[in-house]
Amino acid sequence: MNILAPVITVDGPSGVGKGTLCQWLAIRLGWHLLDSGALYRLTALAALRRSLPLEDADQVAMVAANLEAEFTANADGCLRITLDGTEVGTDLRTEHCGNAASRVAALPAVRTALLQRQRNFRRAPGLIADGRDMGTVVFPEAELKLFLTASAEERAQRRHKQLSQQGLDANLKNLAGEIAERDTRDSQRAIAPLRPAADAEILDTTHLKIAEVCDWALALTVHRLGLPEPC
Ligand code: DC
Repeated sequence: MNILAPVITVDGPSGVGKGTLCQWLAIRLGWHLLDSGALYRLTALAALRRSLPLEDADQVAMVAANLEAEFTANADGCLRITLDGTEVGTDLRTEHCGNAASRVAALPAVRTALLQRQRNFRRAPGLIADGRDMGTVVFPEAELKLFLTASAEERAQRRHKQLSQQGLDANLKNLAGEIAERDTRDSQRAIAPLRPAADAEILDTTHLKIAEVCDWALALTVHRLGLPEPC
């Protein structure tokens, strides 16, 4: 095992349920949580608020490097995220912001600006890292790498349900189109494209309940990290 705190990476496309699994695992193990997508979303949001063109790599990378963002976990594991001292709330979770995040995430200078910041989340007793390139680029030496997939239709349904529960506007047909657009950009970009690491454990969750996905992840964690069997 690394002398650094152990890391479990969870990668996969939009709407696959990584966030729910990661929050559950972090609470179950009492570990820290990195929501790397939130860093790309915050960068996009900050750039939009400053009316910067999202394709201006130098200016957007500067925003990423100087991001005044804070993450605090509530007792229930929910993250409270502030940007420039103000809580961002649901603005961060809209599909508009997700799409803008996917655009800035394709810029190499932005990814470089956020790399060390992501690695700084690694603290004892351990880290659950949620994203697209956690197992391939940010934590290639992670103890356990998970990669979730699900059909595009199922992911659109899940995202629709999640946004509706948060009181956000969501049209299933538009969502499916936006998710497909984001999938293509995230998996075909030149730098750190979405793909499983060679040593990742891959699970198709299309027909699984979240509890089954959590059981699968916990069993692998216990086995790989030599933790006591869960009761
Ligand atoms: O996980 P999310 O939907 O919050 O991520 C928003 C976008 O950020 C996603 O479409 C691609 C980008 N992203 C990335 O490129 N690398 C990561 N590790 C996490 C997110």
